[in-house]
Amino acid sequence: MSETSTIAPTAETRVQVPLAERSYEIRIRGGLLRDVGRRLSDLGFSGKVAVVTDQTIARLYEPIVTKSLKASGFETSTIIVPVGERVKTLRWVSVILDKLARARFERGSVLVALGGGVIGDLAGFAAAVFVRGIPFVQVPTTLVAQVDSSVGGKTGVNHPVGKNLIGSFHQPRLVLIDPETLHTLPRRELIAGLAEVIKYGMIADAELFSYLERQMGALLRMEAGPVTHIITRSCQIKASVVAEDERESDRRRILNYGHTVGHALESLGKYRSLIHGEAVAIGMVQEADLSCHVGICSKEVVARQGELVRQAGLPDALPPMTFSELWGAMQHDKKVAQGRPYCVMPERIGQVVVAPLERSEFKQWFASRASRK
Ligand SMILES: NC(=O)c1ccc[n+]([C@@H]2O[C@H](COP(=O)([O-])OP(=O)(O)OC[C@H]3O[C@@H](n4cnc5c(N)ncnc54)[C@H](O)[C@@H]3O)[C@@H](O)[C@H]2O)c1
Ligand SMILES: [Zn+2]
Repeated sequence: MSETSTIAPTAETRVQVPLAERSYEIRIRGGLLRDVGRRLSDLGFSGKVAVVTDQTIARLYEPIVTKSLKASGFETSTIIVPVGERVKTLRWVSVILDKLARARFERGSVLVALGGGVIGDLAGFAAAVFVRGIPFVQVPTTLVAQVDSSVGGKTGVNHPVGKNLIGSFHQPRLVLIDPETLHTLPRRELIAGLAEVIKYGMIADAELFSYLERQMGALLRMEAGPVTHIITRSCQIKASVVAEDERESDRRRILNYGHTVGHALESLGKYRSLIHGEAVAIGMVQEADLSCHVGICSKEVVARQGELVRQAGLPDALPPMTFSELWGAMQHDKKVAQGRPYCVMPERIGQVVVAPLERSEFKQWFASRASRK
């Protein structure tokens, strides 16, 4: 791959996720994959480790991780599942549990989730329920997983009625991020991950937002410094929000900016036509527009965010659909309380408010879009 040399080894950065007895560290450094075994030993683990991964990562990175685990004296097994969102089902949880049981895993055994958010969510959930919880370590290999899903302890699978309907909070013991893994990531997936980073800028950090405006070119070229910087900053923001509200009763909801509309689009596309980050990008653009429509933010906020989304190569337009389709899809979201979804609205860059969404208000905004075209 021509770009492989652009990520040079950088100094290791650490981010603490302070959750009392469930606290853990996120470590970020190129080449960390080769050190997974030693890092697990340092935490006091020994004995059995299961590496859960998908078919693509099994080819690319599993041998490196397993070699490192063996070198540190671990007894390893590998559980390989097919690629994609379709494995986030109870059936695949059951396959993993079956393998753990047959390999005589017990309370002290460790599970390593090596892959994107799908693997982290699926393997994390298996770790949460096997013998009422075994320790697990996240080794995320997509940008979405490195900046978002590997941190915070949400694990789970989908149900035909809705995404992530079945799940559990189970914090990892450690998150090991090797940004070098991003070199093999399909470009579309990398760009989708940038949507979540833009989200962090919008909800909590105007400086990160400006950094993205200045460095988007370097990020798209995968330059090591900027890539590591945005991963670190995103993890810090997610860690601090999660530390304030581990179980999403209040503040953690700001992380759902762009997701009220985004999740609705994903479910209308039956999880296929748009990937998560793309749906979130469209969701952020539409939710900012709504926020401006109801007088919470200025047109400038909408314009700056729209520009950055387009600069990243992310989609911004709502696919053709009726108001009823969109509103209907928004009702399936877990965020709905008494029939009313809530929406995270930007006030300015770096600051948002969480507000309940009225059907009439949303309908008026939806109609206003058509008249502005
Ligand atoms: N738990 C949370 O807090 C949380 C947060 C955000 C998203 N999620 C979940 O994460 C999932 C999306 O995760 P994702 O975007 O990482 O997608 P993904 O896990 O499906 O990975 C995307 C694709 O990239 C491949 N891949 C992964 N790493 C690679 C690499 N380094 N090189 C080459 N190919 C690679 C995978 O095999 C897969 O085909 C969704 O199910 C979503 O619900 C969870
Ligand atoms: Zn997301």
